[in-house]
Amino acid sequence: MEYSAHEWGVVLENLIINGGISLSGEVNISGAKNAAVAIIPAALLVEGECIIENLPDISDVRVIADILKALGAEVSWLDESTLRVDATNVDTYEVDQECAGRMRASYYLLGALVSRFHKAIVPPPGGCNFGTRPIDQHLKGLQSLGCTTEVNGGVICAEGENLRGGQVYFDMVSVGATINIMLAATLAPGLTVMENAAKEPHVVDLANFLNSMGANIKGAGTDVIKIRGVERLHGGTYSIIPDQIEAGTYMFAAAATRGDVVIKNVIPKHLEAVSAKFVEMGIEVWEGDDEVRVVANKPLNRVNVKTLPYPGFPTDLQPLMVALLTTVPGTSIVTESVWDSRFQYTGELDRMGANITVDGRVAVIEGGRPLTGATVRATDLRAGAGLVVAALACEGTTTVTDIRHIDRGYERIVEKLTALGANISRNND
Ligand code: EPZ
Repeated sequence: MEYSAHEWGVVLENLIINGGISLSGEVNISGAKNAAVAIIPAALLVEGECIIENLPDISDVRVIADILKALGAEVSWLDESTLRVDATNVDTYEVDQECAGRMRASYYLLGALVSRFHKAIVPPPGGCNFGTRPIDQHLKGLQSLGCTTEVNGGVICAEGENLRGGQVYFDMVSVGATINIMLAATLAPGLTVMENAAKEPHVVDLANFLNSMGANIKGAGTDVIKIRGVERLHGGTYSIIPDQIEAGTYMFAAAATRGDVVIKNVIPKHLEAVSAKFVEMGIEVWEGDDEVRVVANKPLNRVNVKTLPYPGFPTDLQPLMVALLTTVPGTSIVTESVWDSRFQYTGELDRMGANITVDGRVAVIEGGRPLTGATVRATDLRAGAGLVVAALACEGTTTVTDIRHIDRGYERIVEKLTALGANISRNND
């Protein structure tokens, strides 16, 4: 379900980008959005105070924090990246419809509330729209833990009087289902074994958070995760990992503008799929302990790319790869194997002069034709980031509209790009 900006009282803003400038300098990466939106609901399982550090200052994080507050948790910001949550007094398992529709990750409340109350009522989540986003694997997993589930008009109800550990085999790799079942199983008596689990860094980060508060989770980061349920979790302090998709976004911005940028506060291993493709394209990538430098000062080679679950090439960087490939002479093929419909934005790149043909899950990019500035719409979060990268790379002025999507996931994007030499600003529509 998508919400309209007017409905939520959001001021419509645009990004105005005068492109054609090579980026250079250093950029600091914020905490990971997709870890944050799982770890904040996980605080519902904790008795006492959780201090969560290194949170990105983005709207998705503020929304999920507000949802916990609406449920009755004590929630306060200690500074712009540190949240204090004490959910001891939460006494409801029902999530407000308006809140849930504001983001995708509201469905993590399902696993968290089932773990805590053995019952959850969660209205349909919102978030990016790229085709159907089924939740059958979440429901199947909960059923394996002894829950009954029902979906009425999109509202998900789960009940687990006798919630206990169980064996879960996922039919496909799902980040959301892996996280939801990890949450549900943490306080469920007995052993839960999840097979064909997602291995994304944010899955590991959630497991580390829960373990640091007293959970017993082993194998996160592999495709078999074993969870021995514990009676309770205690409070503590935890710092979120850096956002590998934000880091990747600045790697693409550097490459597309043929720049030289050091991306700091990253875990280079999380970026290996991108680094390997960059090297194949003739882009230099240097990895330090917690930084990556990208230098693109030679002619680039065309490549083919297929998105895959981690550690494969991330679907969330697919629009950025397509934007980069429009600047590279030759024919490149990008195959989207995670989502059904994640190429809608290519029409926007075509308005800038790109030549991209999409057939189902495959996009063929005839690159190297110079793009020119245009007015384009951010159709979703990462599509918006892809348009920003294309706009930075091409001559002329581009207006990217509907940037509330971009603000859901990128902290201070205008300031960070400006510090790298970009000519970018916001204006109200
Ligand atoms: C997470 O979404 C991310 N969101 C997405 O990032 C990301 O694109 C996606 O994982 C894949 O990496 C968050 O972490 C909040 P999935 P999620 O369940 O968990 C199918 C961004 O830009 N599937 O791994 O919703 C599904 O249709 C966002 O930051 C089922 O069929 O994705 C898809 O084809 C956008 N049944 C595939 O699995 C299910 O029950 C992967 O989905 C669940 C999923």
